[in-house]
Amino acid sequence: MLRKVLFPVAGFGTRMLPVTKVVPKELLPILNRPAIEYVVDEALNSGFDSFIFVISYGKEAIIDYFDVDLGLRSFLAERKKESLLDLIKEVESKVKTLSAVRQKIPEGLGHAVLSAERLVGKEPFAVILGDDLIDAEPPCLKQMKELYLELSAQTENHSLIALEEVSLEEVSKYGIVEGERISDNLIKIKRMVEKPSPEEAPSNLAIVGRYIFHPAIFEYLKRIPKKGGEYQLTDAMQLMIEEGYPFYGYIFQGIRLDTGNPKGYFKAILHYASKDPELREILKSFSFEI
Ligand code: UTP
Repeated sequence: MLRKVLFPVAGFGTRMLPVTKVVPKELLPILNRPAIEYVVDEALNSGFDSFIFVISYGKEAIIDYFDVDLGLRSFLAERKKESLLDLIKEVESKVKTLSAVRQKIPEGLGHAVLSAERLVGKEPFAVILGDDLIDAEPPCLKQMKELYLELSAQTENHSLIALEEVSLEEVSKYGIVEGERISDNLIKIKRMVEKPSPEEAPSNLAIVGRYIFHPAIFEYLKRIPKKGGEYQLTDAMQLMIEEGYPFYGYIFQGIRLDTGNPKGYFKAILHYASKDPELREILKSFSFEI
């Protein structure tokens, strides 16, 4: 059983300030849809049907976006704006089971995941970071879900995380893994290091925003110390590995777009615009001046 997906969206998004002072970075538009909708679509298209959001003060609009706005519906209906009404209904009908929990103080990603313990319960679950878009077919989480289920035939109590090869200059921005290659894109992880220097990094395989966890992660998140004001998810995963929980890393097929910083956000917009024939023409008209 793998049907619950967790979206930790409680961070301050400081790299996108000043706009994130009032607009959650997960709601910043990539064309005419907020970034969060892209990852919600990925989860839906990967067969997940129970959605849990970890929000914080000022980020309620993320869940409102998927809720039914009866006032807006009747306004559009009265004015016979059928196509807009259909558009709104399409968005509002995406997430059938939505739960939310508040992380009162943003004490790191590990702490955000732990906040959802009661809503997740004792079953394996997926985590998607709302600012890490992955354009892939089949969707990245679907690739991972299938692999996770295949692995279940040979192993138990396992977890699976997404990996991406990054350049050596970038390793200090990520959690980096060391492990044994099982196939071209599957690693059995032995060790993880959070934000190592290029000299210390055991590889160039970075942990990116997709995870499928065994529920024991919650017990481990309670045991790790706070570092620099944050509980790191990587520390809990490392402790699980040390105590015998199998962790696998999957080098996914697809293009990852990190919308959590200004350059990555701009790149994500260009990427999706280039896939739309009309917008592509606009992009081409600019290339002359560039
Ligand atoms: P980031 O590392 O991108 O942190 O978190 P952030 O606060 O959102 O952004 P910056 O670094 O200040 O610019 C990765 C994901 O984890 C969530 C974020 O919302 C984001 O989706 N997160 C982070 C939480 O839910 N709670 C936290 O305490 C920290």
